Amino acid sequence: MDHPPVPPDWWRHLFDETYLRTDARSVQDAELTRREVDEVIHTLDLGREEFILDLCGGQGRHALEMARRGYGRVLVLDFSLPLLSWGRAQAQGAGRPVAFVRGDARSLPFGGASFHAVLCLANSFGYGATRGDDLRILEEACRLLQPGGRLYLEVADPGYVRQHLPQQSWHEAPGDLVVCRRRWLTPEHLICREMVLSRQDGLVRDCAYQVRLYEPQDLEAHLKDAGFARVAAMRERAAETQPGERGALSRRLTVAAWKE
Ligand SMILES: C[S@@+](CC[C@H](N)C(=O)[O-])C[C@H]1O[C@@H](n2cnc3c(N)ncnc32)[C@H](O)[C@@H]1O
Repeated sequence: MDHPPVPPDWWRHLFDETYLRTDARSVQDAELTRREVDEVIHTLDLGREEFILDLCGGQGRHALEMARRGYGRVLVLDFSLPLLSWGRAQAQGAGRPVAFVRGDARSLPFGGASFHAVLCLANSFGYGATRGDDLRILEEACRLLQPGGRLYLEVADPGYVRQHLPQQSWHEAPGDLVVCRRRWLTPEHLICREMVLSRQDGLVRDCAYQVRLYEPQDLEAHLKDAGFARVAAMRERAAETQPGERGALSRRLTVAAWKE
C-alpha cells in the first residue's frame, strides 16, 4: 500500500486541541516534561536570569515548567494558535511569567543576539518541505543567539525509527479517542497516516504528515552551515515515565550546539 499524499504545509494544521489528546501520553505528561526540563537545564547549564526561547514550543509545557522553577525570561514561539491560547491560559491561571508569540520559525520576529539559549524540543524539527526550510530554522536560531549562546535540539533517533518503530500502532487517548497510525519509511522521511476515531462521534481526523530523519552527522553539518561553531550529539532513551512504545519519540537524538 502506497502512502497517502502529504500536504507540504501539514504542520500548519495538525497542532490543535485534538493533537493535545492524541499525543497526551507525551505532551500532557507532567512528569515527563519535568525530566526533559532537568536534562535541558543540566546540558546547557541554564541560569535563571537568561533569556531563553522555546522555539516551536507548542503549548509551552517546557517553558511553564521552567517558569515554575524560577526561570523568569522564557518565551514560547509557535505557529499554532490553539496551542498558544492553551499555553497562555495555563500561564495566566498559574501566574507564570511566560510570553507566547505566534510566528514561523523560518523567519523569526526578533532581533539578532536577543537570547542566551534556544530550545527546540520533542521532534519539532524536520517538517520543512525542503532541507533548505529546515536549514533556515537553524540559521534563525543562530542569528537570535548572543555570542556563546547555545541551542538544544531534540529529534527522533533515525536508527530507532528505521529499525524498531512499528509499521502500525494504535492507542487510546483521553476522552473516547482511539488513535491509529500507519507508517512508511522513505530514504529521507518518516511518513505517517493518522486516523483518530471517537467512540461516540466516529472519524475525527484522517491526515498524513512527514518528518525528515536526520542522522547525527547530517545534523552536525546543517548546524555548522547555519553558523554554529561546536556541536555535540548524543542518542538517548526518552526520559519515559511509563513503559511502552511512544511513537517516534521513544528514542531521541539530542544535539547541543554553541555559537562562537
Ligand atoms: C511535536 S510539537 C512539539 C511542541 C513542543 N516543543 C513540545 O515539546 O510539546 C511541534 C510544534 O512545532 C510547531 N512548529 C512546527 N513548525 C513550525 C514553524 N515553522 N514555525 C513555528 N512553529 C512550528 C508546531 O506548531 C507544534 O506546536
